[in-house]
Amino acid sequence: DGDLLLKNINAQAPFPICFTDLEKAVAEKIETGPFGYIRSGAGGEQTLHNNRAAFEKYSIIPRFLHDVSNIDTSIELFGKTHPTPFLFAPVGMNRMAHDEGELAVVRAAEQLKIPYIQSTVSSYALEDVAQAAPAATKWFQLYWSTNEDIAYSMADRAEAAGFEAIVLTVDTVMLGWREEDVRNQFSPLKLGYARGNYMNDPVFTASLPDNSFESYVQGVLQNVFHPTLNWENVRELKRRSNLPILLKGILHPEDAELAIENNIDGIIVSNHGGRQLDGVIASLDALPAIVKTVNGRIPVILDSGVYRGMDALKALALGADAVAIGRPFVYGLALNGQQGVEKVMTNLYDELKVSIALAGATSVKGLRNITIVKKDGVD
Ligand code: FNR
Repeated sequence: DGDLLLKNINAQAPFPICFTDLEKAVAEKIETGPFGYIRSGAGGEQTLHNNRAAFEKYSIIPRFLHDVSNIDTSIELFGKTHPTPFLFAPVGMNRMAHDEGELAVVRAAEQLKIPYIQSTVSSYALEDVAQAAPAATKWFQLYWSTNEDIAYSMADRAEAAGFEAIVLTVDTVMLGWREEDVRNQFSPLKLGYARGNYMNDPVFTASLPDNSFESYVQGVLQNVFHPTLNWENVRELKRRSNLPILLKGILHPEDAELAIENNIDGIIVSNHGGRQLDGVIASLDALPAIVKTVNGRIPVILDSGVYRGMDALKALALGADAVAIGRPFVYGLALNGQQGVEKVMTNLYDELKVSIALAGATSVKGLRNITIVKKDGVD
């Protein structure tokens, strides 16, 4: 594997190698509305910025002169081994980026053996996504609905279609204050990008007065937001489902403790990529206290701002069991469909693998023992 870098230096057409290049290429390729929706954060984008800055505060002090010729990048989640510590974060309405949308992403997930988390607000029905990649590990991200029957219907459909876990997102009881979308007058929900999954739900469609586009829009706007969501709903979902339940969006150690008290099976430390409450703590900054509280009882996954292999390494060194990737794969999708997604994820993986070795570790678990320091005075 000494050629992980050199294999990228060849005669092929160049593909953007880092996040900045990717974002620039996508800005030139797709329209302002969808691009702004994908790129932007809520409010003044303080959290979007801090998600990145948090990674830059940490440095590794490597150890040398140990054999690092064999690197084990595998992890285990809910009794299943995965060859990499990456997951695809749930990202809604992928047809904004590419016509094949979620189908292209799940095929990349199957190819690379990276677990795929499908969003409730997907452009394709969850059944079609499952069928596109039968061998992929698939989890379903649930947006609760104030109409509980719709929430349970979505969860039941996911289980029937072979999804192996439910990820309940807790930070999006209503949409964040996203100024870029107001500026661009852009709402993918209103444009119908979430039709695929909602219109395939029998309980949702039965709740509509008719089959018109306008009824879909009204129905989604009424059901996707759910300000009533509370711990009793979580307990009821856990009682009803046979699948492991994860909570996505946990940032406070006391909520992590409550999750465990309520028999939740895993948590995703996330601030939704800075898209919900602007001014919340960076995901990486929230991680150490949560890892300490959870203390290995359930898996802790981190997302928000993992844009290179070295970011993944830092999160794993600070105790995350896995990391989920959002915008980078969406940009790969926008540039070149399934192949673009695979290229982005392979670059992340290759950089991580090189970095584990250069840091002086030989496995993901081994990263917990390396020396990682927080720089003073850098914010
Ligand atoms: C998201 N995210 C998201 N999360 C979720 O639970 N359900 C969803 O439908 C969506 N939709 C969505 C759309 C777009 C365009 C983006 C960029 C993000 C949040 C996502 O799962 C994840 O938390 C963040 O993307 C992680 O941050 P990075 O990797 O984008 O910085």
